[in-house]
Amino acid sequence: MRNAQAPWSGFDSRAYVNANYLELHDEDAEIISIMRDHFGDYFREHHQDPVDQDPVIGIDMGAGANLYPALAMLPWCKEITLVERSSRNLGYLESQLESYDENWDQFWVTLRENPEYRAYDGDPREKFREVVHVVPGDLLDLDLVAERGPWSVGTMFFVAESMTTEREEFDRGVASFMRALAPGAPFFAAFMEHSEGYRVGDEFFPACDVGESEVYESLEPFAGKIDTLRLKRLKAPGNLREGYSGMIVAYGRRNLDSDIPVDR
Ligand SMILES: C[S@@+](CC[C@H](N)C(=O)[O-])C[C@H]1O[C@@H](n2cnc3c(N)ncnc32)[C@H](O)[C@@H]1O
Repeated sequence: MRNAQAPWSGFDSRAYVNANYLELHDEDAEIISIMRDHFGDYFREHHQDPVDQDPVIGIDMGAGANLYPALAMLPWCKEITLVERSSRNLGYLESQLESYDENWDQFWVTLRENPEYRAYDGDPREKFREVVHVVPGDLLDLDLVAERGPWSVGTMFFVAESMTTEREEFDRGVASFMRALAPGAPFFAAFMEHSEGYRVGDEFFPACDVGESEVYESLEPFAGKIDTLRLKRLKAPGNLREGYSGMIVAYGRRNLDSDIPVDR
């Protein structure tokens, strides 16, 4: 099933939040602990000069009904763009702008275990309201980047492999995310490993069967040179989300190459 064939307008955001983010699961806590150190280290070292851009602007690609990637960028960003294709997820995200739901507080508390997050002493709800913008968009549409990017920090959680069965669309999705980032920009991405697809509410959504080597290959042209591209596999605890064998996180910084072929 290609990306355009999946029933995105039937994505049940509330059912998805209830299943995945009402409580903080162990695997998300582990992901957050890696991500907060990656972003915290980067911004501590580059606070004068975040990828030569001022202000810092962030993007979460395919934000769906998950606010924690945006919360992870919040302390440093003057603007955060949440790009999403599904109308119901767009509605969910819009509903969170004014004052996000209490279930997201535990994610913020976990981020604040890192001192760089604790150093931000503002009200996260107020900052979220001020800086976050929800934008309907398609990850596979390169015009988005030309019109609004490049971004100085970015996240993409369970999107490129969880939107199609096709390897070519997976690669294109990863490439599109990485192209949205400015040279040197720190990024953090998460992937379901060997997913067979997933059910949300009454609808079934496609997934592309990828493992560590496919994730590495898709990112290496965009992140392999400036810094070590890091991958970590988290083992799935029981049957939290059906039909997959684990999760993979990949993080690093966008490289400085400008001559990557556009069809990658
Ligand atoms: C498995 S969900 C992940 C949602 C969220 N990022 C998370 O961490 O839970 C996949 C998301 O990708 C979105 N999506 C699917 N195709 C897309 C596309 N072409 N462009 C942008 N988002 C897309 C879906 O609507 C959905 O929100």
